[in-house]
Amino acid sequence: METQLLEGKKLAKKMQTVMETRVSQLKEKGLTPGLTVVLVGDDPASQTYVRNKERQATKVGIKSEVIRLDASITEEELLQVVYQLNEDKTVHGILVQLPLPRHMNEQRVLRAIDYEKDVDGFHPMNMGNFLLGNEGALPCTPLGIMTLLKEYEIEIEGKNALVIGRSNIVGKPMALMLMKDHATITIAHSRTKNLKELTKQADIVVAAIGRGHFITGDFLKPGAVVVDVGMNRDENGKLIGDVDTESAMGIASYITPVPGGVGPMTITMLLEQTIRKVEVD
Ligand code: GUN
Repeated sequence: METQLLEGKKLAKKMQTVMETRVSQLKEKGLTPGLTVVLVGDDPASQTYVRNKERQATKVGIKSEVIRLDASITEEELLQVVYQLNEDKTVHGILVQLPLPRHMNEQRVLRAIDYEKDVDGFHPMNMGNFLLGNEGALPCTPLGIMTLLKEYEIEIEGKNALVIGRSNIVGKPMALMLMKDHATITIAHSRTKNLKELTKQADIVVAAIGRGHFITGDFLKPGAVVVDVGMNRDENGKLIGDVDTESAMGIASYITPVPGGVGPMTITMLLEQTIRKVEVD
């Protein structure tokens, strides 16, 4: 079987070109979408993600700002920064980059963000609305994956979808989105026994494990659609996914490359949700 790449980078580019026009139209009306990213500490992976978010946002015309804070600040000080952004009329989207330093209560910080400015979909109000099927911001990575699957007209209804990973950022919302589109979902995680028995049954596999090349071709059902959320570094510092793409070639029907698959879609959804905050205002 020929394996086709799900080219997130290409779709991201296409969507961002349309966004440039949408932002220009808003600017003509005197409205400039503003996105502020708060980064606490100097985790190298987070720094890279934040730099990319800022660059892409600026490229489509969003007024983008990054507030970099020392890892030693207190939770109270961080909350004060968030409260100020909540009040700032030029800021439409607020994103606090995760993970936060260990001395902070992540949920408390996320809860402090005005849920109407939450462009990550991590605020409990937005998470709750999402669970209930109401409107609101959605987590960007699973939303980007759904957008990519739709672009390639991949059928979801009635399919067996396996999500490996149960994080609030990816696994849980991913499973819910696939369920909403009528897949039969299974969630696997680090305590799951016989993972291979599950992957062998899955028409769609989303790997959000955080271990490089953990899933190899022999795990997969022939014709499976494989989505690789992994962003791991190998021993040479090279970015690799959770799936060993090479061994999956010829077995999977579709697969997302790493890099160039899910990552650019995540950022695109962040921009989309920021722009939409202004368009619907
Ligand atoms: N850390 C890793 N991914 C994300 C994301 O999508 N949003 C935030 N805020 N932090 C992250």
